[in-house]
Amino acid sequence: MSTDSILPPCVDRIETTVACVLRGRRTIGAFRPEVPPREVVLEALELARWAPNHKKTEPWHVYWLGPETVTQVIALNSRLLTASKGVAEADSKSKKWAQIPGWLVVTSELATDPFRQEEDYAACCCLIQNLQLALWSAGVGTKWSTGEVTRHPEFLSLLGIDPNQRRAVGMIWYGYPAVVPEQTRRSVDSFLSNLP
Ligand SMILES: Cc1cc2nc3c(=O)[nH]c(=O)nc-3n(C[C@H](O)[C@H](O)[C@H](O)COP(=O)(O)O)c2cc1C
Repeated sequence: MSTDSILPPCVDRIETTVACVLRGRRTIGAFRPEVPPREVVLEALELARWAPNHKKTEPWHVYWLGPETVTQVIALNSRLLTASKGVAEADSKSKKWAQIPGWLVVTSELATDPFRQEEDYAACCCLIQNLQLALWSAGVGTKWSTGEVTRHPEFLSLLGIDPNQRRAVGMIWYGYPAVVPEQTRRSVDSFLSNLP
């Protein structure tokens, strides 16, 4: 940042931190076994809830899964995968999922108005990104996961959710990254149109 910036120095520093977190966050496919402290997740959730939400609906609800529920989700996923891809694939996925240190599920309210429903879903996506970035800034990686299992009605019912009231926006797996993958993005020029 140049010294003749109109921003005060403290803002420069905050901007640098924000830029690092935004650019550096990656979806994590392999976690170390340690479970991050509960307080870190709670602090990240406290920050995540400042997400924009039209009409101030705050349409999100977050479920923190304990081991019993995780086992049930893994079993449901295994059943679905066995049917679609066979036992070997299902077993391999179950083993991988059993290693995931932390599990959250974010759901959105299902408003009767379809436009409101869409906007509420968008607000929940903002909450998730806030959550991922806040956790990342504490060294905790995440994967937002939306497999077949999250769209299955039994998924909601095993979390005690009425599928007429809420939909799953995603599972958010978290933990300390074992590996941070590389990613690229298209340049700004490739998606920006300057109109007169
Ligand atoms: C709505 C949504 C659903 C996603 N579902 C999955 C998923 O089911 N499995 C997965 O591996 N990644 C999933 N991701 C993460 C993307 O694959 C990931 O963001 C993308 O590969 C870019 O990598 P990055 O997050 O490290 O930049 C999802 C992301 C979003 C926004």
